[in-house]
Amino acid sequence: FGLMTYDPGYANTASCKSTITYIDGEKGILRYRGYPIEQLAEKSTFLEVAYLLIYGELPTKEQYEKWVYDVLHHTFVHQNLARMLEAFRYDAHPMSMLISALSILSTFHPEARNVDDPAVRNKQILRILGKLPTVAAFAYRHRIGRPYNYPRSELDYTTNFLYMLDYMNQTPYEVNPVLAKALDVLFILHADHEQNCSTSVMRSIGSAKADPYSAMSGAAAALFGPLHGGANEAVVRMLTEIGDVKNVPSYIERVKKGEFRLMGFGHRVYKNYDPRARIIKKIAYDVFEVTGTDPLLDIALKLEEVALNDEYFISRKLYPNVDFYSGIIYKAMRFPTDMFTVLFALGRAPGWLAQWVELVTDPEQRIARPRQVYLGEEARDYVPLDQR
Ligand code: CMC
Repeated sequence: FGLMTYDPGYANTASCKSTITYIDGEKGILRYRGYPIEQLAEKSTFLEVAYLLIYGELPTKEQYEKWVYDVLHHTFVHQNLARMLEAFRYDAHPMSMLISALSILSTFHPEARNVDDPAVRNKQILRILGKLPTVAAFAYRHRIGRPYNYPRSELDYTTNFLYMLDYMNQTPYEVNPVLAKALDVLFILHADHEQNCSTSVMRSIGSAKADPYSAMSGAAAALFGPLHGGANEAVVRMLTEIGDVKNVPSYIERVKKGEFRLMGFGHRVYKNYDPRARIIKKIAYDVFEVTGTDPLLDIALKLEEVALNDEYFISRKLYPNVDFYSGIIYKAMRFPTDMFTVLFALGRAPGWLAQWVELVTDPEQRIARPRQVYLGEEARDYVPLDQR
């Protein structure tokens, strides 16, 4: 191929220099801006982690309070956007609605195209982080045919999101603090993961200097794919299909024959236990204390045990990834399955924005434009239709 490197899926190509997220896939290490994911999950909040990812340092108390205030005061969406969401089919997938809403948001904020102005960038960051939970909640409310609940800025980020969802349909609705905390930690665990598929799309579209809403609409579309953010949904479908712990060994045999993949297993970078999966497994037990246990958990635990002791999975270094347990937790919290990827998108939003800021402020970055290895026809002459 001459001087060109053929690298399908870019497994060996570094597309950028970055100071945001460090992963050691062999050792199972994940750090945001140098801070171990375990410490952030235990001690921080999602909005604080968002600040850290985007601005590079943990905020001071004053910076944090202003940041939380600013984000929570950008949670309302234009009423026309709310009306546009109403026009979707009653059974529209909430992820498709989120992808569309991000794109629609660019029409409300045309100044966002001025991506080289730091003040403009900051304004869009507040708007996106603030409005995304509102759009996600509206998409869900539309799906179940109930009126929207408008944001309450006095609540914390995750509690406000759960309040707008009111997905347990209780009146009056009290958000359970244990569930809100669990979801906040899940958001932290999903907040960034360096150059994964959706983030690469964010950077790729961003490299053409498109506005961040359009770029993020593309990133969310990539996340919708079953091999990426859609995997948590697929895990729950898989566990439901297996149906009983006793069916696990025969299911594993079919995976080994190549009939299908074990969803929630394997990772391009982690060739060891995904550190996020370890933390999530612990959260599962906090959630189950509130919600009651889920029979799918027993199937998941058995599946993990059988796979981790099987030569097929050992030799390929296939371990549970972040999606293996997150779906079970979301299900126990009674989120409908098609909201799972939306939850992933809310968590990943600060990562997408941090990577986008790094891209547009990096003087070495150029428009993303990979090459190809052409294997098609040599030059040939056009044949008129009546002679073919
Ligand atoms: N079940 C069974 N076999 C697998 C699996 C799996 N989940 N994942 C990989 N393999 C096998 C694969 O068949 C191949 O075997 P062989 O060498 O015999 O052909 C070998 O392992 C290497 O696989 P690969 O396709 O080259 O690996 P990749 O780095 O391209 O793919 C992956 C990574 C995550 C797409 C893949 O492991 C997969 O499809 N997993 C299931 C879906 C999933 O859980 N996705 C969530 C990923 S983490 C969160 C996120 O990124 O959104």
